[in-house]
Formats: sequence, C-alpha cells, structure tokens
Amino acid sequence: MRRNGMCPLCYLKKLFSRPSDVTDVFYDKKYENGAALTPPMGWSSWNTFRNQIDDKLLLETAQAMKDTGLVDAGYEYINLDDCWHSSMRDENGLLQGDLTRFPAGIPDLVEKLNALGLKVGIYSSNGTFTCEDLPASLRHEKTDAYTFAKWGVEYFKYDFCHNKKISKYAPLVFSISLAPAGGRDILTVGCEDALLFGTAKLMPDKRLPGGMYISGLDGASGKAVFKNVIVPKAGRYVLTINILKKGLYEKFLIAHINGESYCRFEVPSQKPFNLSARYQAFVDLKEGGNTISLFNPVRTRADSAMVQYQYMGQALKEASARVAQEQGRAEKPIVFSICEWGINKPWKWGASAGNLWRTTMDIRPWWKWMKMIYERNVKLYKYSQKGNWNDPDMLEVGNGKLTPQQNRSHFALWCMMCSPLILGNDLRKMKKEVLDIITNKKLIAIDQDELGVPAKRVKKGGADVLARPLSGGRWAVCFFNKSGAKEVSYPLEKLQADGYVKLAPAPSYAYEEVWSGKSGSVSGKLSAHVDKNDCKVFILTPQN
Ligand code: GLA
Repeated sequence: MRRNGMCPLCYLKKLFSRPSDVTDVFYDKKYENGAALTPPMGWSSWNTFRNQIDDKLLLETAQAMKDTGLVDAGYEYINLDDCWHSSMRDENGLLQGDLTRFPAGIPDLVEKLNALGLKVGIYSSNGTFTCEDLPASLRHEKTDAYTFAKWGVEYFKYDFCHNKKISKYAPLVFSISLAPAGGRDILTVGCEDALLFGTAKLMPDKRLPGGMYISGLDGASGKAVFKNVIVPKAGRYVLTINILKKGLYEKFLIAHINGESYCRFEVPSQKPFNLSARYQAFVDLKEGGNTISLFNPVRTRADSAMVQYQYMGQALKEASARVAQEQGRAEKPIVFSICEWGINKPWKWGASAGNLWRTTMDIRPWWKWMKMIYERNVKLYKYSQKGNWNDPDMLEVGNGKLTPQQNRSHFALWCMMCSPLILGNDLRKMKKEVLDIITNKKLIAIDQDELGVPAKRVKKGGADVLARPLSGGRWAVCFFNKSGAKEVSYPLEKLQADGYVKLAPAPSYAYEEVWSGKSGSVSGKLSAHVDKNDCKVFILTPQN
C-alpha cells in the first residue's frame, strides 16, 4: 500500500525524521526581551491567598514590601495570580478585573502599585479558561497581550489549564492569494509553483482550478515554499490560503514570511458541503520577491505547547513595543513566565519562547514536597541561562509548618539553582526570622549573580553538595543536609576537577558562610557541622 505516493517504509522514514529545512525557524531561537537577565524577584498572591484577592490586599502587600525592606533587597514585582479577573470579558471582548473586588479596575491598581515602586505582574492561561475556570487567553493572545501592555503590566505568568492541543494535521492547500490590505486579490499562485520538501507532495483533483493540491504538510514533516512572490510595494497584505475541504479532523498551518514573521491558520473539522475554503491572515511583505513557506510544525504534544507559548511570547513583545510607541515612552518589557508544570519538557524549548518555565507541578508548603521539587529541578541545571531560567515554582518560605531550618534550606537551594525568587507568604504579618531569610543579602547576590550559572549537584546523599561559579572569580558551595545533624565535608580538589564548576586551583581559599557570616581560610577540604534539614552556604575566593 502506498501513502502519499511513497513506499510505506519511505513514508514512515520521512514522517519520523524532522527535516531541519521544514521547521528550522521554530527551534534554537533564544527569547530575548531585555528582561529577567537575572532571575526575577517579587511576590505572588497565589501560595497564600489563592482565589481570595482584592485591590486592598495588593496595596497592603505592596506597602509591606516597601516597609519591610523587601523592595530594597531587590524584590520588584507584585504579581496577581489567578482570580484577579471577572468571569465576563467586557463589551469589547477584553479581560477585566473582578468587578467587585477590583472596582476601580486593574489599570488604577497598576498605577498605585507603580507609585509604591513596584512593577506589576498578571496571570492567564494558555487555554480556554484558567485553572480556576475564568476566561483565558488561548486564541485571544494578541488582544490580551495588548490589554496587559496597555495596563503597564511587566510580568506575565501563562498557565496551562484548559489547553487545547494543536492538531498535527495540515490542510490541503491548492493555491495562495494576496491582496493589499483593504483591497482585492492582486495575485494567486497555484500549488504547482511551490517547492516541496519532506513529505509534501502534489496530488491530483480534477475539480480544483489547477487540478492539484498539496498534501503531506503534516507533523513537521513537509513544507511548501512559494518563492519570489512579487508584490508592487512593501506593506500589509491579506494572505488567503485556498484549501480543499477534506477530513473530519482539525488542522493547523503556519505561513512563514521571508524567514521572519509568521501567521497561523486553525482549520476546524470540515464538512464538505463545498469543495474549498478560504483562510486569511494579515502579513507584512516587502517590495518585490517574497518567500512564503507553509508547514505544520507540530508533531507531538510538546511541539504544540512550544508553538503556543512562542506565539504568546511574540504577542507580548509586539504589544509592549506597540504601547511604548503609542504612549511615547520607553518600552516596558514583559517578563514571560511559562507555567505548564514541566509536563512537556519545557527546559528543552522554553528558552525559545519565554524568560522562565516551570519545571514541576505546583509547590506546597510541605517539606517532602519541597524536596521532591528540588530533586527534579536540580538535575536541569544545564538548561538555565541568562534571560531564560528554570522555575521550580514560587517560594513557600514562611508558609505552612516549615521549620526555620527547612525555610533556610528552601531559600538557599532556590538561590543556588538561579531560581526566580517569587515570595508566596503573607508579607503583612511575617516573623522576623522569615524576613531575615528572604532578605539575606549574600544569598540574594548568589541568586542574582551576573554570570547566571546555576549550581550543579556534585554529591548526592544524606547531605547533598551543590557548587557553582560566581562572578569576580568566586564560587558558591552549599551543603544541604537531608538527614540527621552531622559533619559534612567535601574535598576542594574535586571541585577543581569538575568540568562544570571549575574551581580555580589555589593553595587556600578565603570563605564566608552566608547564614552565620563566619569567615576564614580553608584548604584541602571544606567542612561544616550542618543540622538536620539545614544548610550551609560558603562563598569561596582563591588565595595565593
Ligand atoms: C496552576 C499553577 C499555579 C497557580 C494556579 C492558579 O495550578 O501552576 O501556580 O497559578 O494554577 O489557578
């Protein structure tokens, strides 16, 4: 049996290889927006307040952030998590704050929070609803991104509840047409003029104008390229994709324009009452020849998530640039926080879509749970980089029944791993011991170190040892004791030999321990007494 005119084996081979010339644009791109060059620091409403938030709470929290010195310590974002909004979009289809909990509206609140010296974050879901079943942004990406940018939002967390996976199937295209925006079609190019790659193939159908259509653009395996599509002048055009209606399943297609921008077409399951259908999008073309490539980059669940997050990432960038222009002010980049709980291995593609990506399920203020999250995240150290970070979720320091030792370890581990430091406790009433932990200057400096190199776990056991290089020829070493109180030690030469940590060889090292402030000189091995569930963190500087 032949599929797409190919022998079954050839077809399978093509289907399961991902030809780099098919979807090249979607991979290995780094999301850069000038924000989150160090892991973001702030506070979020979720961990403590869940669905019970209002403007009063936000303003009191902002005031507390200022009064307690958290703002001075570097915490700059105040993030509204789920349930900030009304179940109703407004009469223009725009999201709006909960009508009775934020009666003055979100823009008013943003202004007040900004006046207290804080940047504001907001939340939505890459789905039809949020996790609390409120309206969300899938298929409203551009509109919602623009709304948030207009409100002056500078941090955006994008969840994954009620997500709809993009189909891996592509529609059957028989021609493309172009019209200047506001005008009629000025040209139509038939599918016979496209260059075909991978599984893409011309198929006959006498009923169609050119007697043929392209199939095989599915699953990141085939691509059709319309080269040298000539328009008389640069500007905005309407691209119409003319497709043969076939198949009671959803389909998806991307049109990639001149290797720069792209638009997408979502085709529902089609009833063949008519032979053909038209799908349109605006595209910006240059004068003379243009290249329009058609393909579906989605084969797997992870591809689908990546494409959707990339799309929102682009929408946020466009929105903040557009608003800056409209308001005649400097651009306020929006930190883009991907929150799909690590289920699609976002560490593999997150850096192409946003500034940070959750690596695990939701954190809880339970010691066992916190350790489980640490265990997963610590292994992913190679994926974090300046501007694009692993996110083991918001902090639970000061929440639940975590002991002082556990709070200390939780905070220190997050700092060692270059994690975002988004507080989740009630800042209006917190114990001094909690405030001392979250404002520990040395640890915050480790988290925020300009090298942005997260710690590697160099020893796993009853006590873990983590190490990372810091700027200024310094290193940080953490002893995290998961078992009973004991003496922990680690040979310095092992840190020198480690190809990632690369501790500079020296006869001795000046050290400072970040909790006690104790300092001195060490050679041979680093040792310390560490209590149960507690940690010690040393900053080492080579001495000659
Ligand atoms: C998900 C996220 C959480 C929080 C809630 C809100 O569970 O992972 O961090 O945002 O949704 O409903």
